[in-house]
Amino acid sequence: MPEPASTQPRTAVTLCGSLRTGSINEHLRRHLSAKLREAGVAVTDLDLNDFALPVFDQDIEDAGETPEAAGALADLFCTHDIVLIVSPEYNGGVTPLVANTISWVSRQKPNPFKHAVFGIAGMSDGKYATLFALSHLRDSLSKLGALVVPTLLGLGPYPDVFTDGAPNEANIQWKVGQMVRELTHFSRGGI
Ligand SMILES: Cc1cc2nc3c(=O)[nH]c(=O)nc-3n(C[C@H](O)[C@H](O)[C@H](O)COP(=O)(O)O)c2cc1C
Repeated sequence: MPEPASTQPRTAVTLCGSLRTGSINEHLRRHLSAKLREAGVAVTDLDLNDFALPVFDQDIEDAGETPEAAGALADLFCTHDIVLIVSPEYNGGVTPLVANTISWVSRQKPNPFKHAVFGIAGMSDGKYATLFALSHLRDSLSKLGALVVPTLLGLGPYPDVFTDGAPNEANIQWKVGQMVRELTHFSRGGI
């Protein structure tokens, strides 16, 4: 007989890969956080301004000067069931903020990517809807041992697809629900 699924309430941290005032990805993050809360998840929204990290340089590590923020983020990844990253696409890839954050966190031990289940999403003013960046981000997280849910939630072009803080197309609303279902279902409780 399979073990029954855990009935414990899920916990999540969410983060946005843009620090820009008025970031459209921050708007998307807020919408997804609200949907997770509706599904009964206890969500903590992180602001990467509160986790200031210099551009990764191994010399900083070698000098024993790893910033506290790297360990703090790693702890949060290890103590929540879900990590949701919502990020713009820059030049077909992830933003420097996301790449830098992942670089620092990936150097922490134990591996901070093997506990939570990860969701990735983004919104763009272009019609390719951040899918190049999300595809790259999924590969990178998978390489680190992360379990990334199947739904890649790329929205675009903004503002056509997003009105009053929410996606306005039925198929995208369904996709949001699908991602929330996957995130709450695939929690693995640490290995
Ligand atoms: C350096 C840079 C590179 C960008 N490259 C892309 C890109 O490759 N694909 C895309 O769809 N949008 C690209 N954009 C446009 C962003 O989608 C747009 O600026 C978006 O509003 C950024 O997200 P934010 O509002 O959350 O900061 C780029 C923007 C910048 C500043």
